[in-house]
Amino acid sequence: ADGDQIGKIAAATKAVDENIKSGQIVGIGSGSTIVFAVKRIAERNKTENLNLVCIPTSFQARQLIQDNDLTLGSLETNPEIDVAIDGADEVDKDINLIKGGGGCLMQEKIIASCAKELFVIADTRKDSTTLGTTWTKGVPIEVLPMAYRPVQLKIEQIFGGHAKLRMASNKAGPVVTDNGNFLIDWIFEGVQDWKQVDRQLKDIPGVIETGLFLNMTKAAYFGSPEGKVVVRT
Ligand code: A5P
Repeated sequence: ADGDQIGKIAAATKAVDENIKSGQIVGIGSGSTIVFAVKRIAERNKTENLNLVCIPTSFQARQLIQDNDLTLGSLETNPEIDVAIDGADEVDKDINLIKGGGGCLMQEKIIASCAKELFVIADTRKDSTTLGTTWTKGVPIEVLPMAYRPVQLKIEQIFGGHAKLRMASNKAGPVVTDNGNFLIDWIFEGVQDWKQVDRQLKDIPGVIETGLFLNMTKAAYFGSPEGKVVVRT
């Protein structure tokens, strides 16, 4: 494994071992780091018989849960979640997050909002003081397809910067989310009040959800290329 992988594995393993307990309802995030958390959960499940119900945040997470022989649930059967675990694209000093780089954010945010605790796992590259430093691809924003153009213009008028429609790399056309929507990546400059920006973004008709996860995280686990983990609470 390369350095980033070692960091991801270390963070995922520690977060799972410290926070996942038998009998819990567990929210499973999306991305490349969460894969190592699910593997660790599955490993422990074999020896400890954890008796968990896992609630997915994406198509990918649903497959991950099933491929690892864990019990799949939904918000319909389990509207209250004990612990959610997820990756992030960037984590600031106050453990606010940018998420959605991998195309998922809305179900992740809903699951996080239903969880008593959200634990974030990341390699140290994601660690920053201020959002927009280590993640430079902008804030992902999920939009209703028919509204993407006016939403782009409004974001640029209100906040400046550049609001780009995320295009697919393997087809001619935009990325379509698990919810059938489009994504706008908003490249911003010098934001201070994220809470207000998030509210203003969500006030634009056609904006469905943003990749800003503010005040939601209980602790972030950062794994270094040497396999050391630092926890921020
Ligand atoms: C998915 O779109 C995300 O919100 C992920 O949680 C985030 O992009 C982190 O993914 P990696 O673990 O692959 O960096």
